[in-house]
Amino acid sequence: MPRFPKIAAMATAFGILLAGCSAEKHQDQAAQEKSGERMVAPVLTGADARDPFSYARPQEARVTHVALDLTADFAAKRLGGTATLDLQAAPNAKEIVLDSKGLEVASVTNAEGQQLQFAVGQADAERGAPLTVQLNGAKQVRIAYKSAPNAEALQWLTPAQTAGKRQPFLFSQGQPTLNRTWIPTQDSPGVRQTWEARIVVPEPLKVVMSGENLAREGEPVEGGGRAFRFRMDKPVAPYLIAIAAGDIAFQSLGPRSGVYAEPVTIKAAAAELGDTEKMIDAAEALYGPYRWGRYDMIVLPPAFPYGGMENPTLTFLTPTFIAGDKSLNGLVAHELAHSWSGNLVTNAVWADSWLNEGFTSYFENRIMEALYGPERAAQEAALSFAEINTVLTGNGRTSPVTRLHNPEAGTGGESGIVYDKGAAFLRTIEQTVGQERFDAYLRSYFDRHAFEPMTSARFLADLREHLIRGDAALEEKLKLDEWVYRPGLPANAREPQSQGFARVDAAMRAFAGGGPASAVPYAGWTTAERLRFLNGLPRELPQPRLAELDQALRLSQSGNAETLFAWLQLALANRYEPAVPVAERFLLAMGRRKFVAPLFETLMAEGEWGRPIAERIYARARPTYHSVTTGTVDETLKGGA
Ligand code: BES
Ligand code: ZN
Repeated sequence: MPRFPKIAAMATAFGILLAGCSAEKHQDQAAQEKSGERMVAPVLTGADARDPFSYARPQEARVTHVALDLTADFAAKRLGGTATLDLQAAPNAKEIVLDSKGLEVASVTNAEGQQLQFAVGQADAERGAPLTVQLNGAKQVRIAYKSAPNAEALQWLTPAQTAGKRQPFLFSQGQPTLNRTWIPTQDSPGVRQTWEARIVVPEPLKVVMSGENLAREGEPVEGGGRAFRFRMDKPVAPYLIAIAAGDIAFQSLGPRSGVYAEPVTIKAAAAELGDTEKMIDAAEALYGPYRWGRYDMIVLPPAFPYGGMENPTLTFLTPTFIAGDKSLNGLVAHELAHSWSGNLVTNAVWADSWLNEGFTSYFENRIMEALYGPERAAQEAALSFAEINTVLTGNGRTSPVTRLHNPEAGTGGESGIVYDKGAAFLRTIEQTVGQERFDAYLRSYFDRHAFEPMTSARFLADLREHLIRGDAALEEKLKLDEWVYRPGLPANAREPQSQGFARVDAAMRAFAGGGPASAVPYAGWTTAERLRFLNGLPRELPQPRLAELDQALRLSQSGNAETLFAWLQLALANRYEPAVPVAERFLLAMGRRKFVAPLFETLMAEGEWGRPIAERIYARARPTYHSVTTGTVDETLKGGA
């Protein structure tokens, strides 16, 4: 399909820059690979595609390829070596501006090894510092550097902080703007780059990265250690370059999928991930071929700050999704779905992160429906829908934070909006035009825009051109601009309905009206039904009622992190003492921000009762958490919430 000529035709409408690459040159990726040429993705130039979180000026000079040659020093907590960047520069460009944060840059040279002038500018806490290199005609620059020991993307775990307790571990988290703490490049999601890497670690550690693994066992290096090599030949947003190193085992799951984990975790991880291959098939049946080769996952040590991260070819996962019954594997469907929404078509700026996360939440639910049927999917969709109302109630229906396209959201935004209102928007379109028609549209959207950045305006234009096609009545029904640019929830939103939830709501009302906890048929419920129940209970409950619930439903003994979290939120908000040691154990056992931050907030909100508990637990737990998690919790404890 002649993709780029199409873009050239739309260039006036959307301000797309082909950055020095001719249209025909990139038509046929296969021919390109044969000729050894690398695929170069376009950069958008419209005002809505300008990334305020990057110093880069890609219209003048941009990075197209990154080659890393790094050694991991676990004692010094540094990655050090070189990054060699291939560039495309406008004819009059004198310099290239890269992003960097805390990097110690020793030198910059051109391909011939001649020194190039460079300067590291003033740093700010969010973006770091611009690293400006005088090009002197260079098409390639080589930066010799080291990451700082406190690089925010990286967490260096001692053996004690791992599940296996024998070897140290390193992992990175790049999204949204953290990769500049270990890679000097243009760290903007709209500036796609191919990459390769050679990483040296001490024996007996292994390295995995978010690209093709070229030497799974590594190769011995003179002077000690082993070198591992990786390659990503498709242009990706730079936040998707990721690394993990440690005592890592592998188990195959199917012809193109497998799981990496510490040896003590690998069995449970593989069992929980048993449906992965089916998920890939279901995703392909919906939206077209999986374009990244293998789909592997790594289950990280419990300090990993997110549930999952969609690093291409290698999803990163928290071990807290392991419940023993696959009931939390929606997380896997979600990260897999990002292989289309997010990794193939990528938000050009973080103000449009709903294009990644909202599409993915919708897509995740479609995969769950395909694997487990409409009732489980409806329950999970209903839980997601409830999150929208939580945000609308908390902030007011006219609050600007409830807009999907939100230039004031920084790099984040309310997850109830970005994920859940985003998913509800797509579900509303689907139910208005019919599933078959919407599926065909989405499939064509991923094909048309594969390996390209996306903005809200471009998506709406594409939808109007290829789905609405001038149907004024349909346009009126969909309320597209209201969904994307205005706060609140448009009147055409469709609320997901679940029969199971109707029964749960009845049990909830009976208990709230004074009925015994022993009458709640909790043991027979799905995880989603249990969450519906726990989150729907009155927020204020007397101690004896909490004790009754805890005993009858065995809540404090739950091995399911989501239901345990929901219970602890309720219990701590009611100053229920027996939950304190349970919360303490949980907070010391993992560092996932989604669980950690709200529990500390709840404790802090309980003033003279909760604050000393929060401070005592945080003093012990903080050193085990990733910067993503401490960054949030530090504020909570400082502010006194
Ligand atoms: N890409 C996100 C994680 C992320 C978002 C990292 C924004 C940094 C900034 C990932 O796909 C995600 O959404 N993870 C969720 C799980 C999901 C099932 C909602 C999480 O970590 O909880
Ligand atoms: Zn996501």
